[in-house]
Amino acid sequence: MSAQQQSLVSIAGLSREKIGYLLEMAGEFEKHPNRKILDGRVVATLFFEPSTRTRLSFETAAQRLGARVIGFTDPKVTSSAKGETLKDTIMMVSNYADVIVMRHYLEGAALYASEIAPVPIINAGDGANQHPTQTMLDLYSIYKTQGRLDNLNIHLVGDLKYGRTVHSLIMAMRHFNPTFHFIAPTELAMPEEYKDYCREHGIRYVEHEDFDADVIAGADILYMTRVQRERFTDLMEYERVKDVYILRKAMLCKAKANLRVLHPLPRVGEIAADVDESPHAYYFEQARNGLYAREAIICDVLGLTIDDVRHDATTL
Ligand code: CP
Repeated sequence: MSAQQQSLVSIAGLSREKIGYLLEMAGEFEKHPNRKILDGRVVATLFFEPSTRTRLSFETAAQRLGARVIGFTDPKVTSSAKGETLKDTIMMVSNYADVIVMRHYLEGAALYASEIAPVPIINAGDGANQHPTQTMLDLYSIYKTQGRLDNLNIHLVGDLKYGRTVHSLIMAMRHFNPTFHFIAPTELAMPEEYKDYCREHGIRYVEHEDFDADVIAGADILYMTRVQRERFTDLMEYERVKDVYILRKAMLCKAKANLRVLHPLPRVGEIAADVDESPHAYYFEQARNGLYAREAIICDVLGLTIDDVRHDATTL
């Protein structure tokens, strides 16, 4: 398979079977996160936008599997600041690394990189477009907490316009007969292209502007999102909508017993601190699941199979 075919750029390209396979592999890594299966490999992490979880969990994943990590967290300290193009940066790093994990503020940047790079590219978020590795850890979290991916009521709350994690999640869930509830103010409503996607794939959705205990009552998964200040061109508009929905513990009074609250994090106020004590809160565990999901993704793009993982003798 070519490097481009090995790359993970969009969740839309993954079949139900492939998603199931990656989740199974993530389960192997949850049992034994420390192995030397990537001994001698180099993983590059190129972050043109800020990150805590995605970068650190990728770097932890690589290191727990025996790989070494190179990269940058701030393009201002690289030759991008001197005007080097994305193409040249990718071609240079491909000389040094076996796989490139990349976050970029431009939609389509990861796709472009995958078309020119001689090594696989993993999209760690491109603008408001896609965040496929977040989706894999979200699916892993949903599967772990609900025991299934099929036939779930998933409520997406907050910034549905710019939130790349919810866009990727919709696409992945097309295989699993979900019912989505899109809960957002008009300014941050789910874009038409994703509603079209739902219609084309027979995905049911309902739109709400109210966010209260009655709306939450039917949910299996309550997926909160941050209003993405960095994507607004008009900061006055951001100020108007930033605190429009705040989840408080009292609002979970009618929730199903097995409801889990997810959030890709960081949160900046949309989940009140008292929710952390609730048995429904799952966002910190969700972030931990990112390690196992990303161990599986790195191995997969490097051509290692679940059998390679199961038969690996270097488990620590
Ligand atoms: N969920 C997520 O992408 O977090 P970071 O921006 O901290 O990587």
